[in-house]
Amino acid sequence: MAVTVLGISGSPHRHGNTETLLDRFLDGVTAAGASVEKVVLKDLHYSPCRGCNACHKTGECIVEDDAIVLYEKILAVDCIAVASPIYSMGITAELKGLIDRGQYLWARKFILKTLYFTNDHIKRHKGIFISTAGLGWNNVFDRAFPVIAALFNTTGFEYYDNVIANDMDRYGGIRQHPTALLEAYEKGQKVARVLEKLKTT
Ligand SMILES: Cc1cc2nc3c(=O)[nH]c(=O)nc-3n(C[C@H](O)[C@H](O)[C@H](O)COP(=O)(O)O)c2cc1C
Repeated sequence: MAVTVLGISGSPHRHGNTETLLDRFLDGVTAAGASVEKVVLKDLHYSPCRGCNACHKTGECIVEDDAIVLYEKILAVDCIAVASPIYSMGITAELKGLIDRGQYLWARKFILKTLYFTNDHIKRHKGIFISTAGLGWNNVFDRAFPVIAALFNTTGFEYYDNVIANDMDRYGGIRQHPTALLEAYEKGQKVARVLEKLKTT
């Protein structure tokens, strides 16, 4: 069975810097023979977590919307490529809202203990973070990494790699960046090949 990769675009700006970088990554994945699906969070309908903690008792979220459908997809694929620009030194509201809604999986893992990912499962499931930022600061992504790690931990993915490009304001956009798009393509190819190999071992 082909390696399956789900791209999640968390930018509200369609076909902007971040989605373009995600698309190049997914092009690389496709070129390596994996099967790809992309979802755009701004086109989905979901509300933020209410913090009601009902999931602590049932392991289910009481809100039935697109977030739950998307989490089912996430749990079914080999790789997720999660993309967000840096907004106010963190990730976008669209992506943070989705990540918070995964609390019912956290409850299954750590409160109810009905969900468990083996080390072997985690090794065979790779998470990639894709991001762009306006500023050229080296630490501009630092507040985003732990939030993305929380998503990967909750859903059973190894935090495999980042595809990040800063200084967009100076470059005037991702297409003017000297290396980012090629790097995204090559990293897409690489993770698809690594996962393909893991499927046969
Ligand atoms: C609301 C908003 C907040 C932003 N905050 C930051 C920030 O805190 N730091 C930064 O480096 N860039 C910031 N930026 C710039 C974006 O991260 C940058 O332009 C990014 O490449 C946009 O990606 P997109 O085309 O996918 O929207 C912000 C942009 C917007 C619209």
